[in-house]
Amino acid sequence: MEAFAILLLCSFLFANLTISTAVDTLNATQILKDGDTIVSATGRFELGFFTPSNSTKNKYLGIWYKQIPLKTAVWVANRESPINDSSAVFKLTKQGILIIQIHNGTIIWRSKASRPAGNPSATLFDTGNFVVRDENESDPENFLWQSFDYPCDKLLQGMKLGRDLVTGLDRPLLSWRTPDDPSPGNFTYRFDFGGFPELILREGSVIRFRPGPWNGVRFSGTPELKPNKFFTVSVVINDKEVYDTFVLHNSSVLSMMVLSHDGLWERLTWIDRTQSWQVFVTVQMDPCDSYGLCGAYGSCNASNSVKCSCLKGFVPKFQKVWDTQNWSHGCVRRTTLNCSSDGFFKYSNAKLPDSRQSWFNYSMNLDECKNLCTRNCSCTAYSNLDIRDGGSGCMLWFVDLVDIQQFSVNGQDLYVRMAASELDFSYDFGETESPKSKDKERIRVAFISMLSAAVLILGLTLILYICRKRRHEKPGLATPTSAPESSFSVKNQNEEFELPSFDLATIVLATDNFSIKNKLGQGSFGSVYKGILKDGREIAVKRLLRSSEEGLDGFKNEVVHIAKLQHRNLVKLLGCCIHADEKILIYEFMPNKSLDFFIFDETQSKPLDWPTRYNIINGIARGLLYLHQDSRQRIIHRDLKAGNVLLDYEMNPKISDFGLARSFGEKETEANTKKVVGTYGYMAPEYAIDGLYSIKSDVFSYGVLVLEIVTGKRNRGFCHPDHHLNLLGHAWRLFCEGKSMELMASTMRETCNPSEMLRSIHVGLLCVQQSPEDRPNMASVVMMLGSRGPLPNPKQPGFFTERDVVESTSSSLCTQKLVSSNDFTITMSEAR
Ligand SMILES: *[C@@H]1O[C@H](CO)[C@@H](O)[C@H](O)[C@H]1NC(C)=O
Ligand SMILES: *[C@@H]1O[C@H](CO)[C@@H](O)[C@H](O)[C@H]1NC(C)=O
Ligand SMILES: *[C@@H]1O[C@H](CO)[C@@H](O)[C@H](O)[C@H]1NC(C)=O
Ligand SMILES: *[C@@H]1O[C@H](CO)[C@@H](O)[C@H](O)[C@H]1NC(C)=O
Ligand SMILES: *[C@@H]1O[C@H](CO)[C@@H](O)[C@H](O)[C@H]1NC(C)=O
Ligand SMILES: *[C@@H]1O[C@H](CO)[C@@H](O)[C@H](O)[C@H]1NC(C)=O
Ligand SMILES: *[C@@H]1O[C@H](CO)[C@@H](O)[C@H](O)[C@H]1NC(C)=O
Ligand SMILES: *[C@@H]1O[C@H](CO)[C@@H](O)[C@H](O)[C@H]1NC(C)=O
Ligand SMILES: *[C@@H]1O[C@H](CO)[C@@H](O)[C@H](O)[C@H]1NC(C)=O
Ligand SMILES: *[C@@H]1O[C@H](CO)[C@@H](O)[C@H](O)[C@H]1NC(C)=O
Ligand SMILES: *[C@@H]1O[C@H](CO)[C@@H](O)[C@H](O)[C@H]1NC(C)=O
Ligand SMILES: *[C@@H]1O[C@H](CO)[C@@H](O)[C@H](O)[C@H]1NC(C)=O
Repeated sequence: MEAFAILLLCSFLFANLTISTAVDTLNATQILKDGDTIVSATGRFELGFFTPSNSTKNKYLGIWYKQIPLKTAVWVANRESPINDSSAVFKLTKQGILIIQIHNGTIIWRSKASRPAGNPSATLFDTGNFVVRDENESDPENFLWQSFDYPCDKLLQGMKLGRDLVTGLDRPLLSWRTPDDPSPGNFTYRFDFGGFPELILREGSVIRFRPGPWNGVRFSGTPELKPNKFFTVSVVINDKEVYDTFVLHNSSVLSMMVLSHDGLWERLTWIDRTQSWQVFVTVQMDPCDSYGLCGAYGSCNASNSVKCSCLKGFVPKFQKVWDTQNWSHGCVRRTTLNCSSDGFFKYSNAKLPDSRQSWFNYSMNLDECKNLCTRNCSCTAYSNLDIRDGGSGCMLWFVDLVDIQQFSVNGQDLYVRMAASELDFSYDFGETESPKSKDKERIRVAFISMLSAAVLILGLTLILYICRKRRHEKPGLATPTSAPESSFSVKNQNEEFELPSFDLATIVLATDNFSIKNKLGQGSFGSVYKGILKDGREIAVKRLLRSSEEGLDGFKNEVVHIAKLQHRNLVKLLGCCIHADEKILIYEFMPNKSLDFFIFDETQSKPLDWPTRYNIINGIARGLLYLHQDSRQRIIHRDLKAGNVLLDYEMNPKISDFGLARSFGEKETEANTKKVVGTYGYMAPEYAIDGLYSIKSDVFSYGVLVLEIVTGKRNRGFCHPDHHLNLLGHAWRLFCEGKSMELMASTMRETCNPSEMLRSIHVGLLCVQQSPEDRPNMASVVMMLGSRGPLPNPKQPGFFTERDVVESTSSSLCTQKLVSSNDFTITMSEAR
């Protein structure tokens, strides 16, 4: 019953004030109930609970235009968790997190935490942006959270559709399921970063539409997007962020972009006269806008009755199918390419092909671009990136060209690689008649002679030069450029994997010669330093303990193996540096230190509310599952502990030091037995006693970690006035007595979700069972955390403490009735 009391405390401890009058701000002592609203300063936007239409009873918390009679939600918080009565409340916690709670205290939605707040408040701005600020923060723009960062299906003036490359925050649009149901439907619209960042509209995973790369003036595939008196669209692409946005020229006009539930990207404008939203522009205007209609090397002309044709020098792959107007198989070359003597054919007024696997550089000109393409036999086309001021920049394609369109105006020049024999002079470019056709003729002749010159003069010399240069140059990471394109030069992931190697000078400079003030810590395998590369990028540098046993080739192989392990919840290895007997690994830098810094300290653990901790528990599980099973390499971590879990800006967990044990660990362990001492408390009994490793020993460590995250106490060194059990024993005892909730760290009272917490404790106890065979594997752990089904009863945990005390009272079976999270739910609903 004690657990129950704590639950009540959790949910109803704070008797908050209600919002009564129209204000634009919510503070941590107020609550917003069904029927209350917050109104922005000039009354343009309103926030509160609403139902999307008369045909549903579901309620959502959202923001809508206040001045118009048609309630149009521009943003919805709990898209996926509708509320079916009027009991819900919306409030801001003291930690600066927005939450929606329903009748029984369950939190059905919460905003993400970014950093701790001293004195948070939430304000609805006249832009429609709802922001959480820290009143103690001197910079008023430094928000803790803002609704503009989590767009739904609508883009308002000033919102950014795109990604912050520094924090990694992506802001895609997800359509509503139906006009009555704001839960995410099948359509998404977001930037794709495979090559040149390009917006892609997908239905599920199938691409439906792309507007084409942004060329400085418009999207390559939207010739109708002209400067107009209503709005200006712009796209920003630099090394910090990539986004699409727009401004309205008359801000009293209500106008927004919407990804409709049926997959159309359109501009809606409110018309007072008709009291309705009018579609101002739909970007998908004709059949040619449906992605890849004409297949590879096909080109679509919307003014033609037969929409598709093959590019010049190409023929339908399957003529018979093509003739039935099924163009999806596309076209193939009539004459195969001969690398050394190929030329290029220029298409004017084209929509550039799918550039998701393109390469690009902003500072090259068209000649340099052509040279580069000519020299690489797999380059299929090139074009300028930016069409302003006569054109600049370079984009290269290395794949089949898909989704090309031919317009009559406002397209772009595209140069497609062709066998020289296909480039016959008499062909009239197919361009619209132009008064400057003589110039074009001249340019064409010049272009072709330049081409032969390039081939003749440069030829082998150049290729040799490039090859040598490539071999001698350190890859991009070590030679920082100030050009904005540097962060995109990584291509297609299917390419042969090559790990960047940094030179020692770069690392010495970055870490200020391994200065003690840059030292972040000491791990089992060496010291870690913070470093800043010349281009401003932050890195973590792990200087491995000197050991001559590992041969150089072996070392490189191992490092490449580790670098191939890539997962959201693993720290990314960026490269390595080998110099004499100096061996250094370079990792991405994690600003928020490691988990142990937070969970074991009363004051530091404040920002770690329960949702954040639960996210960490789940994230570590997924990372570990990947290591054990999904990575194809079956890595056992062997040293999982709070200190080896790092946190990113959003407090997402990333496991570090994986793969090292397998690669470099065994010798180190023997050589430096003392260094492993710090990880007692996480070691499974069979490992600590018999030295037996298995994935189940990692599972044990994971279980310890979960219990530590929930309790905020270390397993090792845990003490309790009533008994001599370690944390595992204590948790087991409370569990058996049905008092698991007592394990909760006091800082989580306000944010805890009892059923998630009980489930975590239960899973944690299953993981630390004495016998490895009894412990679940990580796949089951991930499943158990994500489901609501009943869980097996845990057996006695493997007690392993330096004090080695197993109380006589602790039997191997619980004597009392077990309280699982399910029983708990039932108790709860009966009680109400
Ligand atoms: C929150 O707002 C209410 C109403 O404006 C006010 O009475 C209260 O003092 C505020 N609390 C804080 C902590 O600012
Ligand atoms: C929804 O219900 C309200 C009030 O009952 C009514 O005024 C309105 O016309 C209805 N809207 C629709 C679309 O049926
Ligand atoms: C809301 O849903 C819960 C469970 O899903 C149900 O018990 C309750 O009766 C519903 N309330 C209303 C008003 O429909
Ligand atoms: C925030 O400011 C208030 C006074 O405005 C102060 O009482 C409080 O201690 C500050 N909190 C922090 C975390 O700085
Ligand atoms: C989404 O796609 C799935 C599978 O294609 C389909 O079954 C479902 O009806 C679609 N949903 C909507 C809202 O269109
Ligand atoms: C802005 O739009 C409003 C409402 O449509 C209109 O009344 C006003 O004249 C417009 N202002 C300008 C400068 O065009
Ligand atoms: C597209 O088709 C129209 C109608 O047949 C034709 O006049 C125009 O030249 C074509 N455009 C291109 C670029 O081929
Ligand atoms: C075109 O043909 C392919 C196979 O030949 C088929 O899968 C596809 O559905 C056809 N497309 C249309 C639009 O008929
Ligand atoms: C490519 O063309 C050149 C010149 O026309 C010729 O000498 C060479 O043999 C050709 N190579 C291939 C592989 O066809
Ligand atoms: C881009 O082109 C410029 C000029 O040719 C060159 O200096 C720079 O290194 C290139 N950047 C990349 C990433 O290739
Ligand atoms: C040509 O480009 C591809 C793709 O970028 C690259 O993998 C290949 O190494 C290049 N070939 C040469 C000879 O530069
Ligand atoms: C609270 O009620 C919701 C449905 O109304 C239910 O799904 C949830 O499990 C309940 N939570 C608790 C702790 O009883």
